[in-house]
Amino acid sequence: MFDLKNKIVVVTGAGGFLGSYFCETLISFGANVVAIDIDKKSLNNLKRSIKNSKLNLNKIFLIKCNILNESEIAKSTKKIIKKFKKIDVLINNATYRANKLKNFYKPFEDFNLKDWSQISRLNNDGTFLITKHISKQMIKKRSGSIIQIGSIYSHVAPNFEIYKDSFFKGNKINSPAVYSVNKFGLYGFTKYLSSYLGKYNIRVNCLSPGGIEQGHTLKFKKNYSSNVPLNRMGKIDDLKGMIILLSSSESSFITGQNILIDGGLSCW
Ligand SMILES: NC(=O)c1ccc[n+]([C@@H]2O[C@H](COP(=O)([O-])OP(=O)(O)OC[C@H]3O[C@@H](n4cnc5c(N)ncnc54)[C@H](O)[C@@H]3O)[C@@H](O)[C@H]2O)c1
Repeated sequence: MFDLKNKIVVVTGAGGFLGSYFCETLISFGANVVAIDIDKKSLNNLKRSIKNSKLNLNKIFLIKCNILNESEIAKSTKKIIKKFKKIDVLINNATYRANKLKNFYKPFEDFNLKDWSQISRLNNDGTFLITKHISKQMIKKRSGSIIQIGSIYSHVAPNFEIYKDSFFKGNKINSPAVYSVNKFGLYGFTKYLSSYLGKYNIRVNCLSPGGIEQGHTLKFKKNYSSNVPLNRMGKIDDLKGMIILLSSSESSFITGQNILIDGGLSCW
């Protein structure tokens, strides 16, 4: 069970925090991983980390590609098909948090339209474009799994109490409305696609993590945990089981779902 040996998995935003973790985890279960990111440096870091973890470097295929540029996506898809002949799994993980984190965390009444539009463009248009090109390949093979990385905010609104007096990377932390709009939309897109692509045996699900610990202050961790039945923030390893399950044939009858990995935060 959960053998990914013959699977070709494409991960977007592969050089980022969760993306690089997904790539390494999938490789450790035998998958061939195509790592897509706009940022070449982060892709090189990923390669270094795979080497340091003593994982098989032949299992990673790096592609620098801007998922907002359709001709780059078309070229990248062609490259992948030339090398592997098929794509089994697409993980839509890339995200953009404005050119300055400070702007991403601005309160609703001060939020800039430019940031709103750029963030939405990546989350909506970028996800649409890459899914359009890759699902076309899956349709040809009558098989595939698309995993959308959502968020707890694909399901509930933020409880703003948890952000009180808390900082992340030196900025007063917040979750902006645009993130909720995009992530709820992503779940709508997931449901739409699961209905549309079902006839081609393509499954589409949303994997929605709660906040994952990444150098947050003690104050924030305490605030956040008080809102969670399991009384802690997520750890990146909490996502391992579900990413493997949704990538493998063991999830062959699961589609159209929003699977929350949130320590129970959404239960009340
Ligand atoms: N970190 C968390 O706690 C958390 C919690 C819930 C959900 N999520 C979701 O998980 C996903 C990954 O989050 P993260 O924290 O790892 O983000 P991150 O910022 O670390 O990584 C995002 C990656 O996307 C890449 N990217 C940005 N624009 C791109 C483009 N145009 N083309 C290709 N690649 C592009 C970036 O270069 C970066 O490597 C996101 O969808 C996020 O909403 C994260």
